[in-house]
Amino acid sequence: AYRQRLLVVANRLPVSAVRKAEDCWQLEISAGGLVSALLGVKEFEAKWIGWAGVNVPDEIGQRSLTKALDEKRCIPVFLDEEIVHQYYNGYCNNILWPLFHYIGLPQEDRLATTRSFQSQFDAYKKANQMFADVVNSHYEEGDVVWCHDYHLMYLPECLKKYNSKMKVGWFLHTPFPSSEIHRTLPSRSELLRSVLAADLVGACTRILGLEGTPEGVEDQGKLTRVAAFPIGIDADRFIRALELPKVQELIKELKERFDGRKVMLGVDRLDMIKGIPQKILAFEKFLEENQIGMIKWSWYKLPSQQGQTFLSVCSSINDQKLTSQVHEIVGRINGRFGTLTTVPIHHLDRSLDFPALCALYAVTDVALVTSLRDGMNLVSYEFVACQASKKGVLILSEFAGAAQSLGAGAILVNPWNITEVASSIGQALNMPTVERVKRHQHNFMHVTTHTAQDWAETFVSELNDTVVEAQLRM
Ligand code: UDP
Ligand code: G6P
Repeated sequence: AYRQRLLVVANRLPVSAVRKAEDCWQLEISAGGLVSALLGVKEFEAKWIGWAGVNVPDEIGQRSLTKALDEKRCIPVFLDEEIVHQYYNGYCNNILWPLFHYIGLPQEDRLATTRSFQSQFDAYKKANQMFADVVNSHYEEGDVVWCHDYHLMYLPECLKKYNSKMKVGWFLHTPFPSSEIHRTLPSRSELLRSVLAADLVGACTRILGLEGTPEGVEDQGKLTRVAAFPIGIDADRFIRALELPKVQELIKELKERFDGRKVMLGVDRLDMIKGIPQKILAFEKFLEENQIGMIKWSWYKLPSQQGQTFLSVCSSINDQKLTSQVHEIVGRINGRFGTLTTVPIHHLDRSLDFPALCALYAVTDVALVTSLRDGMNLVSYEFVACQASKKGVLILSEFAGAAQSLGAGAILVNPWNITEVASSIGQALNMPTVERVKRHQHNFMHVTTHTAQDWAETFVSELNDTVVEAQLRM
């Protein structure tokens, strides 16, 4: 059967490279929701274009890495250290990311960003042009070019300048801020105009702070189709993984380890937007109240009083401030509520591999997702996919995109309200089985029927249709 050729362009490739020798590379799966969703996209003839997360200044390195990546259908864009600093750390992670997630920066950081804004924006455009060059050199007529995320907002315009016939889609994995926030960005209209050069613009939930018609947004006589495409995961990959002997063994170990205790779980990239301190503070509040409750009501033993362990897994990015903040709170709580043999919180500062993650999801009683803002949050989907036998409870922030799809099955909370989160933990731990089963089934149905593959198919077919319709209008 004919399979549409797809060029997927994202800042980060699904694999990141680690250099082992001059011409020898080790490839590891990259973390993050974007990669996780894209790994679930299968029924296309796809090539990935992006950055391998490593600086490769020499020709031998570039040539050998290009070859190694080719086996994974990946094409590298080589960004030097200075560009990475200005474009990726600077403009993407210090300006766009906090802005798009409504995170206010401290005044002095804001001023520092204001001063370096122009040079970072220039680097951003330069980097986007480098991506465009690589796309252009691999493009074949009829290909669909699918650009991803806030790193590449300038890319649609660069591509259309090369070839106005190129089918270009752009998808945002983060929330888009309200127009009142977006208008503070010095490059506000340049970025939006460039995105609108695409034929189709999509995001997980609400889109762009733009006035639009049902067909899309019109800018300078050109109509761009704009729509929401809720993202998903490859649910089967998780369900199948639970059957693997290795995962089964891990599940058995974990069950023995936490026998007689309830397991709560948080899995996040260590990022401001995930509300990790808020989550841990809510757990502390829960412990406080539960202890008092135990003295008061010791004749009435709630199941939650058999003891809880909270496992917090965070893959570290270089946010030293947040890391030490989290460590401090965890240390305090473990000091307060721990005994000589157990501590209430186990906190890991690193990513787990796929089998370990699946096993953890499977043995969890209550998962806590407390994002202050999140495009979708696929961790919540992954948890649900692994809970077919346990039917645990998901506590989910109302500020995650997933609240719109899993809202009826999860307990929705405002992560800033730790009293509410603490009482939701109690509610989740003591939830009657009938209710747990019903809530789980609702979520499981959604996660297994709204997959990454469906998401990609819908986006690509909409993009193809949009281009045909535009040709008919001409
Ligand atoms: N993840 C991981 N290791 C970690 C934390 C997260 O591999 O320590 C993965 C997680 O399994 C999920 C993705 O990263 O697939 C996170 O996606 P999500 O949409 O929840 O958030 P994002 O990181 O994109 O903001
Ligand atoms: C989020 C973004 C992705 C990004 C990921 C990991 O999911 O939407 O575009 O890839 O975080 O961040 P990193 O900067 O490490 O690629």
